[in-house]
Amino acid sequence: MSKPPSITLSTGAHLPFVGFGTYLIKDEQAESAVGAALSAGYRHIDTAEGYQNESGVGRAIRTAMDGGLARDELFVTTKLWPGYAGWGQEPKNTETTIASCEASLERLGLDYVDLYLIHATFDQDQRIAQWRGMVALWERGLARAIGVSNFSESHIDELLAAGLPVPHANQIELHPWSQKPALVGYLADKGIAPIAYSSLVPLSTWRTAPGQDSAKTEAMREEAAKDDAPFRVMAEKYGVSEAQVLLRWAVQKGYPVLPKSTNPERIRANLDLFGFTLDDADMAAIADMDRGGGIAWSVGDPLAFS
Ligand SMILES: NC(=O)c1ccc[n+]([C@@H]2O[C@H](COP(=O)([O-])OP(=O)(O)OC[C@H]3O[C@@H](n4cnc5c(N)ncnc54)[C@H](OP(=O)(O)O)[C@@H]3O)[C@@H](O)[C@H]2O)c1
Repeated sequence: MSKPPSITLSTGAHLPFVGFGTYLIKDEQAESAVGAALSAGYRHIDTAEGYQNESGVGRAIRTAMDGGLARDELFVTTKLWPGYAGWGQEPKNTETTIASCEASLERLGLDYVDLYLIHATFDQDQRIAQWRGMVALWERGLARAIGVSNFSESHIDELLAAGLPVPHANQIELHPWSQKPALVGYLADKGIAPIAYSSLVPLSTWRTAPGQDSAKTEAMREEAAKDDAPFRVMAEKYGVSEAQVLLRWAVQKGYPVLPKSTNPERIRANLDLFGFTLDDADMAAIADMDRGGGIAWSVGDPLAFS
């Protein structure tokens, strides 16, 4: 199989443009969903301590490796759950950050992950201690690259002001309704790869299954469901799905994407993004759709991007 289209991190590692997202996939479902993704050709898997599905994700990966998939053909990301005192959790420090990664590796059944991220900033003062732990994990080779998620410019500046290494990536909510041009420009200046999550927010079907609620309003869903909704019109023009238009937009901007689905047909189609190109007029029209902040996490949530 040919190598998947990828971006190159500042470490020199290749991060495939299309990763399989696993948020809201339960551990017992994760093995079959990730197995379907690997069979469809995904070579980049995104999980997290906080998703509580690393064991199932790991079982699928090891089955694929037993079937001949080489570890170095795969890019696996997991994330540190930083702990939040506001929810009665002990914020992680340097030592417990290291222990958390070791526990994730144990659950995944892997010797290393390709990328380890601090999942969120929270309103607490352990970020630097946690980043020191991340750096130690990178130096020990347990994480081949390290980064952050949901960090703003000032959160990253804080790490740099402490004299610590620049993160290799920042995973953020990024889609036509939340384009974050200042942050994306900052990341480009620093050589930090932006990784887009929740690319499919503008779909009327985004997280509509029971238990997958989000801050998206009914008005937004109705707007997205209209016959003349812009992504619907573009999808017809290119002969693809609306999801493919949204994912292709990100790829054309240079952002890796992490579409999540438990539907085998969607899993396959979400990977099929390289046979068409959005033209300049459509890219310009999408550039005008930015609504500012994120939608995937509700306002007032301590995890919310700010
Ligand atoms: N770092 C962070 O804080 C953070 C936050 C959020 C997400 N993430 C990562 O990014 C991944 C993706 O984000 P996400 O899970 O929020 O959402 P997403 O991938 O943007 O969208 C998933 C939703 O869209 C539906 N869907 C998927 N493919 C579709 C298609 N082709 N047509 C129509 N509907 C489709 C899914 O339903 P079905 O499953 O029923 O198909 C689900 O409801 C996550 O799984 C996670 O790995 C990271």
